[in-house]
Amino acid sequence: MQTQSSTAKKAFRLAVIPGDGIGKEVTAEAVKVIEAVGQKFGRAFELEELPWSADHYLQTGTTIPPNGYDTLREFDAIFIGALGDPRVPDNRHARDILLGTRFELDLYVNYRPVKLLHERLCPLKGRGPKDVNFVVFRENTEGVYVGIGGRFKAGTDQEIAIQEEINTYRGVHRIIKYAFEHAKARGLSKVCMADKSNAMTHGHALWQRVFREIAPQYPSIEATHYYIDALAMYMVVDPGQFQVIVTNNLFGDIITDLAATFQGGLGMAASGNIHPGKPSMFEPVHGSAPKFAGKNIANPLGAISSAALMLETLGLQTEAAAIDAAVLAAVTAGQGTPDIGGNLGTREVGSWIAGHVERT
Ligand code: NAD
Ligand code: IPM
Ligand code: MN
Repeated sequence: MQTQSSTAKKAFRLAVIPGDGIGKEVTAEAVKVIEAVGQKFGRAFELEELPWSADHYLQTGTTIPPNGYDTLREFDAIFIGALGDPRVPDNRHARDILLGTRFELDLYVNYRPVKLLHERLCPLKGRGPKDVNFVVFRENTEGVYVGIGGRFKAGTDQEIAIQEEINTYRGVHRIIKYAFEHAKARGLSKVCMADKSNAMTHGHALWQRVFREIAPQYPSIEATHYYIDALAMYMVVDPGQFQVIVTNNLFGDIITDLAATFQGGLGMAASGNIHPGKPSMFEPVHGSAPKFAGKNIANPLGAISSAALMLETLGLQTEAAAIDAAVLAAVTAGQGTPDIGGNLGTREVGSWIAGHVERT
């Protein structure tokens, strides 16, 4: 039933970049679900597909057009499948399209919720949904990802390769602040920062300083710190202690693949690349899994949950909740792809979720 007047309903313009490999397949299912949500709740979603991908690069020589980032800025949000193709060994198109968008649109918050939906999916002995429910905030515009460095005497036995890690006061401050604000807004009581300041004594001393500066501003939130190696260990042995983890770009990348396994694997994990109040980009945590491509076996739930994050960020809480409820129902009913013990195909899971959204 539609309860709001049509004047209250703005149309949302969404850019869709399916990308490569299974990215295309899972994006098709996320789109199916977004369209079902639009029907169900009377929302106008104007989806525009952009062809930027390995195929497009190999055909045209262009990774992203010269005005590509400006094009993206005109949308309310961006949905992206995955990028990566063995025919582009230096991954240059992914660097321009995915990392380039994170940098150019200044999407400094990489928001990666880690929520186990059913005990059966968790590889950790005896752990269930109450033990695995936290979020990771990964700094998304700095660190080793900026690509500053170079190689000297490349290809010789005297080669020197330098890859700089960039940490700025502004960059570290805004992600740590965001993590505390998130905790405060959701009534959470703990924030854990992870770095490697015992070895990276310059860059990560800055993380220490900023964390010590911000934490006292939130007296009701317990601020803890682990070195990243210990954090990885504690995530496995005692995941229930975590509510909010904040860390740098590289460490956040690594620990969110680890955390994805707690949820049932990479196919389940969702993410948002966010600049509050500005066009942001949503994508599953997984990559293009070339070996799985074109077989209708990729799990689309991470992509579909990323679509829910996108709608939530656009202020469509009810619509996002309808998708989350459908994903939970599918997992509970065993209606999934083989990686989570089901026997449905990618398309069938997408149709199941869309059907659930329409019916309930
Ligand atoms: P990957 O995430 O593509 O796949 C690793 C493994 O995880 C797969 O072999 C599969 O077993 C499993 N998996 C991943 N997604 C799944 C899904 N939806 N359903 C079921 N199982 C799934 O990582 P990779 O093999 O290291 O990388 C492949 C390519 O993807 C590379 O080119 C890499 O650079 C790229 N990549 C892109 C992104 C992105 O676009 N955001 C993220 C990670 C990797
Ligand atoms: C991710 C991916 C990317 C990253 C790759 C494809 C560059 O692994 O989004 O997690 O490292 O950020
Ligand atoms: Mn990754």
